[in-house]
Amino acid sequence: MSDTPTLLQRRARLLGPNMTTFYSDPVHIVRGKGAWLWDADGNRYLDCYNNVPHVGHAHPKVVDAITRQAATLNTHTRYLHEGILDYAERLTGTMDHDLDTMIMVCTGSEANDIALRMGRAMTGKIGIICSDNTYHGNTDLVSHMSAKRTPIGGPVDWVKKVPSPDTLSPLGGSAEAQAQAFADEIQRAIDELEAAGHGFGTLILDPFFANEGFPDLPQGFLDPTVAVVRRAGGIIIADEVQPGFGRTGRHFWGHQRIGLAPDIVTMGKPMGNGHPVAAVVTRPEIMTEFRTRFGYFNTFGGNPVSAAAAMAVLEVLEEEKLVDNARDTGDYALGLLKELDHPMIADVRGAGMFLGVEFAKDGDTEAAAPFCAKLVDEMRNRGVLLHSVGRYYHGIKIRPPMCFDRAQADMLAETLDAALKAMPV
Ligand SMILES: Cc1ncc(COP(=O)(O)O)c(C=O)c1O
Repeated sequence: MSDTPTLLQRRARLLGPNMTTFYSDPVHIVRGKGAWLWDADGNRYLDCYNNVPHVGHAHPKVVDAITRQAATLNTHTRYLHEGILDYAERLTGTMDHDLDTMIMVCTGSEANDIALRMGRAMTGKIGIICSDNTYHGNTDLVSHMSAKRTPIGGPVDWVKKVPSPDTLSPLGGSAEAQAQAFADEIQRAIDELEAAGHGFGTLILDPFFANEGFPDLPQGFLDPTVAVVRRAGGIIIADEVQPGFGRTGRHFWGHQRIGLAPDIVTMGKPMGNGHPVAAVVTRPEIMTEFRTRFGYFNTFGGNPVSAAAAMAVLEVLEEEKLVDNARDTGDYALGLLKELDHPMIADVRGAGMFLGVEFAKDGDTEAAAPFCAKLVDEMRNRGVLLHSVGRYYHGIKIRPPMCFDRAQADMLAETLDAALKAMPV
C-alpha cells in the first residue's frame, strides 16, 4: 500500500529538501506497460506526459536488449566494442546532412555541455545565445542558460538570452513578422557579445521550442536567424532532447521539421527508453577540433548496455512504425482537443505526440497559471497524467509514449473535457 507522507518524509531526509514531485498528491508508481502506469495501490493511469519511455513503458524488445547485453558484458569505452559503432552508424543515418560523428554520454546536460564546448573550440569565442525561457540542463556551464534560477554569482554577461517566439504574443507583433524579429534579437545579442569583448561563438536552441511552450512556427522560421549567425561565424546547436526521435510525427528530428541544418545536434531522454543514454552528433571537423582541444572520456557513456538499449529503441521505432503513429494518432488527438469548449482555452496546438492547450484568463496568460495547476491535479485525480508548460506554466503539455493509440486519445480528450467542466473559472 502507498503511504505518501512517509515516502515524502524519507525522500526529504535521504535525498534532501526541495526535490520536485509532480502533483499536489504525488503518484507512487510501481509498474508500467505501453502508455499505462500503475501505482502502489493498483490504480491505473494513462501516461500522457512521459517522453522518456519513448516506445512505451517496459517495451519487451528494449528490456530484452538490455538484459542480454548486461548478461554478456558491460564496461567502458576504452575497449573496442562494435555496439557503439553500429549505433553511431544507424543514428547518424537518420540525419539528412553531414552530421556523421557521435559522442555518447549519459544525460542531455552532458550532451549540451559538450556541444557548447565544441562551439567554443571551433570559434575560439565564449559568447553563447539562448532563448529567455528555456532549459538545457544542469552542468555549471549549461545552467547559465536556464530561465528559472539565477546561478550563484548572478547572470554572466557571456550568455545573452533572447525573447522566445510565441503564438499568442508573436515577436514583431504578428506571425508574419516573427521570424525576422527573432533574427533581429539574435543580431542584437551578437553585437552585445562582441562589444563586451567575449565574441559570439554559439547559438543553442530547441528547434521545437518545447520548454518555451512550442509555438506554431512555419518551416523556414529560422532562416533569417541562420543567416545572421552564419554572417557572424557562429555555431548552431539543435537541442533535440524533447522533439527528437520522431516525436513530432512527420520528421525524425525537430530541426528537420523547421528546416534547419544545425552544426551540432544533442539528444537524450527518449534515446534509451529510460536507460540513461544521451549523445552529441556533429560534423567530423567539429569532432576533431573538440577531441584535439579537450580530449573527452565518459566512463559510462556509450557502454555496451547503453548502446544496446539505444539500438533497440531505433529498431522498435522502425518495426512498429511509431513515427507514423505519432503523426496519425497525434493528428487525431489534436482534432479532439480542438473540439474542447472552455472560456479559458486560448489556443490548442502541437505536432505528432507533442500537443498542448494554452489557457488565458480574460486574455491574460499569467492569470491562467493557478487554473492550469489545478487542472493538472484534477487530471491526475481522474487517472490521466500530464503537466504544465509555458512562461507562467499556463498551458498543459501532452507528450505520451509514441505507442499512444486512438482509444487512449479518446480517454484523454473525454477526461480533459470532464475535468474542465468541473473546474470553476
Ligand atoms: C530541452 C532539454 N535539454 C536538455 C535537458 C537536460 O537533460 P537531462 O535531464 O538528461 O540532463 C532537458 C531536460 O529536461 C531538456 O528539456
